[in-house]
Amino acid sequence: MAKPLRIPNTSGPHDNTPVFKRISENLAAQGYSFIDDAIPGDLANVLLARVTELKSNDFSPAGIGRADNQMLNNFVRRDEIRWLEHNDEAEHRWLQWTELLRIYLNRHLFLGLFSYESHFAHYEPGAFYKRHVDAFRGDSNRVLSVVLYLNRGWQTEDGGELLMYHENETEPFTRVIPRMGKLAVFLSEEFPHEVLPAKRDRYSIAGWFRVNTSTTERPDPPR
Ligand code: OGA
Ligand code: MN
Repeated sequence: MAKPLRIPNTSGPHDNTPVFKRISENLAAQGYSFIDDAIPGDLANVLLARVTELKSNDFSPAGIGRADNQMLNNFVRRDEIRWLEHNDEAEHRWLQWTELLRIYLNRHLFLGLFSYESHFAHYEPGAFYKRHVDAFRGDSNRVLSVVLYLNRGWQTEDGGELLMYHENETEPFTRVIPRMGKLAVFLSEEFPHEVLPAKRDRYSIAGWFRVNTSTTERPDPPR
């Protein structure tokens, strides 16, 4: 008898399937998913250790699209970012986990997700990111936004909540407290969102799954 096909679980004995299933079902039903303790036990700790060992000059001020207007930029967002790479063990483990999620979502939702990119984000006290969408319809190949929070003991009073909106609405439909191990996944074009000013250092990983829109004239850059 043929052996059942196994998806290699590169992050150890942890079984990701229940979490992936929940994300997939939530996305199909409503276009977003918020999950506590989404990733293997120690991975959030390892990622927090990594982001806090990085020095401030490892980060760069985050930009907005192609606009190279520092004043506008500062008005919209004040976080600092650093892109993840495979050459660090902690970052590699996160990139592996998101690769397994990508494969799962493609199998179950036929999203045709082609690549993933992500950066650490550090919001200093007072930093924010005003209401925005991560992708404009027809103008981007970002399909799915993924944010993982890395803040131990975060309290409501610490601010820094993620407010999620339905298009054309001014009241958020949910407020996400950026607690350690919490994962937010949502369709990049569908949901305007904003980050309220944080009162303490706020760490996260923000990333995007993309579809491949390359043509022979214009190869799709990974970023
Ligand atoms: C982003 C973003 C949300 C958050 O980086 O585009 O919206 O809660 N981040 O950090
Ligand atoms: Mn965003």
